[in-house]
Amino acid sequence: MINYVEEHRQFNLMTTKTQLSINILPTNQLVLSYFGEKIGDVALGYVTKEIKRASYLANADNIPEFKLEQYPLLYPAYGNPDLRNPAFQLSHLDGSRISDFRYVSHNIQKGKPALPGLPATFATNQVETLELILRDEVKGLEQVLSISCFEKKDVFTQSVRLINQGQDPIKIEKVMSLNLDFLTDRFDLLTLSGAWGREMGLERRPLHQGFQGIDSKRGASGHGQNPFLALADPETTEDAGAVYGMNLVYSGNFIGSVDVDMHQNCRMQLGINPFEFDWELAPEASFTTPEAVFLFTAQGFNDMSQRLHHFYTECLITPSFAKRERPILINNWEATYFDFDQPILLNLAKEAADLGVELFVLDDGWFGNRQREDSSLGDWFPNQQKLGGPLPELIQAINDLGLAFGLWVEPEMVSPKSHLFTEHPDWIVQVPKRTPQQVRNQYVLDLSRTEVQTYLIDCLDRLLTENNIAYIKWDMNRNITDSGTKNLPPNRQKEFGHRYILGLYHVLETITKRHPTVLFESCAGGGGRFDPGMLYYTPQIWTSDDTDAIERLKIQKGTSLIYPPAAMSGHVSASPNHQVGRQTSLITRGIVAKQGNFGYELNLLDCTTVEKEIIKDQISQYKKYRSVYQFGEQTRLTVFDEANEMAWMKVLGDQVIVSYLAVLAKPNTVPKRLKLKGLAPQATYQLLESEASYRGAELMNIGLDLPRPSADFYGKEWILVKKD
Ligand code: DGJ
Repeated sequence: MINYVEEHRQFNLMTTKTQLSINILPTNQLVLSYFGEKIGDVALGYVTKEIKRASYLANADNIPEFKLEQYPLLYPAYGNPDLRNPAFQLSHLDGSRISDFRYVSHNIQKGKPALPGLPATFATNQVETLELILRDEVKGLEQVLSISCFEKKDVFTQSVRLINQGQDPIKIEKVMSLNLDFLTDRFDLLTLSGAWGREMGLERRPLHQGFQGIDSKRGASGHGQNPFLALADPETTEDAGAVYGMNLVYSGNFIGSVDVDMHQNCRMQLGINPFEFDWELAPEASFTTPEAVFLFTAQGFNDMSQRLHHFYTECLITPSFAKRERPILINNWEATYFDFDQPILLNLAKEAADLGVELFVLDDGWFGNRQREDSSLGDWFPNQQKLGGPLPELIQAINDLGLAFGLWVEPEMVSPKSHLFTEHPDWIVQVPKRTPQQVRNQYVLDLSRTEVQTYLIDCLDRLLTENNIAYIKWDMNRNITDSGTKNLPPNRQKEFGHRYILGLYHVLETITKRHPTVLFESCAGGGGRFDPGMLYYTPQIWTSDDTDAIERLKIQKGTSLIYPPAAMSGHVSASPNHQVGRQTSLITRGIVAKQGNFGYELNLLDCTTVEKEIIKDQISQYKKYRSVYQFGEQTRLTVFDEANEMAWMKVLGDQVIVSYLAVLAKPNTVPKRLKLKGLAPQATYQLLESEASYRGAELMNIGLDLPRPSADFYGKEWILVKKD
């Protein structure tokens, strides 16, 4: 899987279909001589030797015509004659800012070491890791590039470690997790961009000379940009063409960039955002970057998505939950908001249980004196008046109805009106002499501080130990302003952002390990922290606060580009929808919500008898095919009118579910057929609704008959079973 060919000073990292090759130059810099489809064990030294020299570039090591700036470097420094965007930047006590790391040695090991204090993918089998060790002799610094090769998954990961073996402390001002240099800029850039309520919008645009990319400065990965970017050939479609994708296993400020240079080469990077970041590295200390996941496929976006789905399911999400079927839930948020008492909750739970729901989630408003958004965060003590008695009694009553019980918390926050804030006003994130900003009437607790972490761990531990809680919704409803901490001296304040995330990870790690049977769902006002870092701790994530089925089509399509269906939660909510006021049918809402983890978030007591019958059917059908919905291999299907239609299919074993939706009915149109993908061409598939049978080849080349759009047409699902 990973080999080193001494004769050519070349490393080859090969997965089943792809290959990454690295060469050591005679001057001991490392170049990425190849990344793409597997080409085998061939000497690639000519790739850099044959680069035609451009004008006005400096020579490296004063060697005539040795232009490092034109080389596809593996992890470029600032200070050698490459004046493009460096992958890292250090500043030294003597004021110098130049680095010069050269290859010293390497080791190849089976498996993959864990990253200290950080979430990271783990090795199942057939994984090897190459550690490349480089040194800056002048400053006594060591740099270790750890690249893991997941052979069967066709995925790579990289993390970088910097070790200070010198006498003086240094400042790290930038340290990317991954840098990929390409000898071309003939690419489109793909990102998942948006805002609260419209996360993960797929954007595709051609590269242009200069700097372009995405970032977050919000203290969280954020609603605005997902920590993901891809470069694709301009011709690439869902089903064919080259894609280079990268995704950061991190939940804080990040940057993903592509820099197109003067000679139409490009450099792609992903890592912690250097904005508002630096890190003092004392002698003997080390710093490890978050991990970047990256891959190449020549088979288009569907293939990239499927690889990442498998990879995250098997190598990132907690194994005990990764393939465990997730419960169908009712969440009381859009049903009651803060306005509930014990009878309201129990009536909702009873109705839900009668319809077949399995888990009751009590959302915001159950603690302290929380009647609105303006108080009590931090006071995680049940409001017995509202709950009609102690929490265990309410839980028991809900359990007696046959439902498991889940609870909402927002541990990272505190309300100014709370006991916690009165006792510890200094625990919030703030800058001395400045008035800290409130957002949604709340402050952020300084999770970089050990005492705050310990308090949260104790609090959550008590809640989970004293109560029969099967599920926790871990919310986070504001971003971090007033960035700063009392914990660090003035010259190290820029460490705060990363230290906050390390503190959060420590709390999550401790609590999820202590309570391994509790299912955690993370949420940040919907998808404000939908990233692989959170997914490592919480096997599912609330996709968006926008529950409108039509808006969700775009949000869920973008999400499906990277994250597996079982990571993504979807709820059927009321019509007209609370966020956009749109009316949609229950059928439409059901089909969309069933794309991932299914649930309801509306007042079931307001539903008509007919609606309840539909809900009952949706639930029993979802239960029957739950594993296909949650763990089936998902493929986005091609529709005739992309602006108005969307379709996807899921396959698990012999079962196939095809889902199709048309947003608007159009008069006098003749629907085109819907062609399926990825089936066994010679196998027979039986359509359950009509008992008709088709060959896989027919379904992929002729397709299913679509219903005619009309006023009462809302969307359709087909279930097919493979017969031979
Ligand atoms: C934001 C979440 O995304 C909602 O689902 C809900 O839990 C509210 N917070 C509660 O305050």
